[in-house]
Amino acid sequence: MTDFQPNQKPHPCAFVIFGATGDLTHRLVIPALYNLAAGGLLPDPFCVVGVARRGMSSEALRESLMKGLRQFATRPVDDKVANRLLECVTAVEADPSDPHSFDGLKQRLEKLEANRSTGGNRLFYLATPPGAFAPIAEQLGRVGLLKEDHGAWRRLVVEKPFGTDLASARALNEKLLRILEERQIYRIDHYLGKETVQNILVLRFANGMFEPIWNRHHIDHVQITVNEKLPVVAHRGSFYDATGALRDMVPNHLFQLLSLIAMEPPARFDARTVRTEKGEVLAAIETQSEEEALKNSVRAQYVAGKIDDKEVPDYRKIKDVNPDSTTETFVALKLHIDNWRWAGVPFYLRTGKALSIKRTEVAIKFREAPFAMFQCTSVEQLVENYLVIAIEPNEGITLQFNTKIPGPTIRIDGVQMKFRYKDYFQAEPATGYETLIYDCMIGDNILFQRADSVEAGWQAVQPFLDAWKKAGARGLESYTAGSEGPPGADELLKRDGRSWRKL
Ligand code: BG6
Repeated sequence: MTDFQPNQKPHPCAFVIFGATGDLTHRLVIPALYNLAAGGLLPDPFCVVGVARRGMSSEALRESLMKGLRQFATRPVDDKVANRLLECVTAVEADPSDPHSFDGLKQRLEKLEANRSTGGNRLFYLATPPGAFAPIAEQLGRVGLLKEDHGAWRRLVVEKPFGTDLASARALNEKLLRILEERQIYRIDHYLGKETVQNILVLRFANGMFEPIWNRHHIDHVQITVNEKLPVVAHRGSFYDATGALRDMVPNHLFQLLSLIAMEPPARFDARTVRTEKGEVLAAIETQSEEEALKNSVRAQYVAGKIDDKEVPDYRKIKDVNPDSTTETFVALKLHIDNWRWAGVPFYLRTGKALSIKRTEVAIKFREAPFAMFQCTSVEQLVENYLVIAIEPNEGITLQFNTKIPGPTIRIDGVQMKFRYKDYFQAEPATGYETLIYDCMIGDNILFQRADSVEAGWQAVQPFLDAWKKAGARGLESYTAGSEGPPGADELLKRDGRSWRKL
C-alpha cells in the first residue's frame, strides 16, 4: 500500500506458487494476478512457476488455471490478457517430503529465469496447508533459493494460520527466521487487503478532527463485529472443528481491526513505523487470568435452524465434525488495552458463523453528554453517539447523533450522517489480493504481519484457549442457526450497563 500512485510496474521476477493445483491458487491468487495484468501492474518480464503434483504438465496446469479463472474472475475475462498471463506458467514438481526434488526445482527455476530474463528476483507463495510452511522454507533454504545475492531479492509469502496457539506461533516464527530475514517474510491477513480496512488508517490520520477525541476521555467503548451468515462449509469440517471461531478469526482478522483502531499515530507512513505501532498496541492487550478469561468470554455452537428459508443442520452433524464437539462457532470477548489512551475503555469483540446477517463493522461508542439539559427528552430516549465503520457489506462510515425535530418545542430524535463508498467511488470488483500481491512484488510490507504482532495476538487469546480447554463442555452455549447469536453475548455487555449496537 504505497502512498504514491501505484502505476509503477514491479521489477521483473519469478512468482513461484506452492499448492498451484489447490483452491487458494485457483480462487484468489490467479484471479488477482489476472486483475493486476489487466491493470498493467505485473512485472515485465515475469514468469509463474506452479509447483504441482508429479507428472502434471504445464499444459494441464494452464488449462486448470484457466478453468478456475473463468469461474472465479471478478470481472469479464479478456482472453488476450488471460492467455498472456497463462503463457508465463510452467509446472514444476517439488515435494518437501522428497528433499531431492528441491534440487531439481532449483535447476528448473534457474534455467527458466535465464530464458525469461527475470533477473533472479523470486517470490515464493505458499498456498499450502500450514503444516507445509516450515518444511518448504527449510528445503528452499537448503538449496540456496532464498539467499539474496547479486542484488536480487527473495521473498516468502505465507497465509494464516500462523500457528494454532502461542507456542506453535513462536516455533513457526523461529523456524522461518532461521532461514530468512523478517523483511523477506510476507504474512498475509486478507483483511488488510480490504479497502475499508486500509481506510481506517486514512480516516484516523488524514483528518484532524478524530484524533483529539480518540481516547478514554471521549470514547466509552469499542465494538468489533464480524458476523457471518454462512454456516461452516462441509469440506472444512475437519479444519474448523480443530480450530473454532476464536483461533480462526480473533488473533488475526479481528485483531487487525483492533490494532488499526487503537494504535498510536505513527510518525511516518512506512512499514517499520506502522507495524511497530500496531505491534505495540497488540502487546498492550491485557493478558487475562484464566478465571478472568472465563468471565470475559462467551463461546457458543450453533444448532439446527433456518437461514433465508434454508434449513441449516446442527454444527455437530457436519461431515468430519466430532458428534460431541465442544468447538465454538461463535465467540464474544471483552478485552482491555493497558495503556494511557485506552485505560478503562472496554473493547468488545464478537464473531460467529450461521448468524442472521453478514456484517463486519467497528462501532465506536462515544460518552454521553455530561449533563441532560433538554427536559422534554429523557436521557434514555437520546440515541447513543456512534461512529460506525462498516467494512462489509455496504462499505461506509456512519455517525449517529441527536437532532431537534422541527417545531416550536424542543423535541429530539436520533439521525445518521452516512458516507457510502459506492456513492463516491466506482471501484472495479476485485479479490482483495491485488494490493497484497502487488506489495509483495514491490517489497512494501506495511500490510503484512510481523512476527511480534502475530505472537502478541496469540498471547492475548491464549488464556481463553487454556480456560476453555479445561472447562470442556461447561459454559459452552448454543444458538439457533439464523439467530443473532447466544444470549450470553448480550449478557456480557449488559452487566456493564451496555448493549451491542443493533445490526
Ligand atoms: C477466513 C476464515 O480467514 O476468513 C473463514 O478462515 C472466514 O472461516 C473468512 O469465513 C472470513 O473472511 P471475510 O473476508 O468473508 O470476512
